Amino acid sequence: RKLSIIGMPMDLGQMRRGVDMGPSAIRYAGINERLKPLFDEIHDMGDIPIGRPEVVIDKESNLRNLDLVAEKSTLLAEKVDEVIQSGSFPLVLGGDHSIAIGTLAGVSKHYTNLGVIWYDAHGDLNTAETSPSGNIHGMPLAASLGIGHHSLTDIGGYSPKIKPEHVVIIGARALDEGEKILIKEKGIKVYTMHEIDRLGMAKVMEETIAYLKERTDGVHLSLDLDGLDPNDAPGVGTPVMGGISYRESHLAMEMLEEARIITSAEFVEVNPILDEKNKTARAAVELMGSLFGEKLL
Ligand code: ARG
Ligand code: MN
Ligand code: MN
Ligand code: MN
Repeated sequence: RKLSIIGMPMDLGQMRRGVDMGPSAIRYAGINERLKPLFDEIHDMGDIPIGRPEVVIDKESNLRNLDLVAEKSTLLAEKVDEVIQSGSFPLVLGGDHSIAIGTLAGVSKHYTNLGVIWYDAHGDLNTAETSPSGNIHGMPLAASLGIGHHSLTDIGGYSPKIKPEHVVIIGARALDEGEKILIKEKGIKVYTMHEIDRLGMAKVMEETIAYLKERTDGVHLSLDLDGLDPNDAPGVGTPVMGGISYRESHLAMEMLEEARIITSAEFVEVNPILDEKNKTARAAVELMGSLFGEKLL
């Protein structure tokens, strides 16, 4: 098994600076050393060049940095595509969650029915019309479903990337009105914190795995660190109380590893400026350990 790490230091999808340092924070937390025993080869491909562009609000749509996000997403999509073609597992380090638009554009062309696990406090199902913020990190799941501004939905030259019945959202506890409507309209499967509390994470993951196994030929894990409780992952730009615990998250990763369904992954929204001694990046690396088969005994 080969792993390729791609850094995507993009903070253009939201307003808080510092998430561009996410890939550095995750590398500093020891990703290479931690994952080395779990793969035959690890290639750290470095970071996609983002630079320090000026903030530009698109006049017509009001979206923050629309053209820049589209341009940089295309670069990421090409890199991810290349990694999969080379037979390696792509692991993308964010960056804010808008990077998922590019990741999925690069991944999905390799599958007939790509599944997605969206591990997040949020739905990221907004469009320019429903967004309370104009921040594109609240839109990547919608864009990947083909809903939203054409500059975001058409990255990689095709749309949609995924079908609503192949998506499972886990950890939701902050959904905007427009997102709730979309979830119902499209029949997207969602495990909110209520279901996680009520069923327990083991049952939630059993159901998620069975659901995706039946329908998909590959599964992308898009893990937003704000899916975790802010006590366990404080270094995120949009924390929401009452999240998934560190232990529950490890169990989820271990069950995904046992089921062998994950074919690509990204860990996003790590913001070391808002963090406590790099705790959130360290949690990300520890969860990657479980996801890729670390065993105690
Ligand atoms: N729903 C809010 C918005 O659209 C927050 C989105 C937060 N997204 C994230 N990837 N952290 O602005
Ligand atoms: Mn998110
Ligand atoms: Mn989130
Ligand atoms: Mn336009």
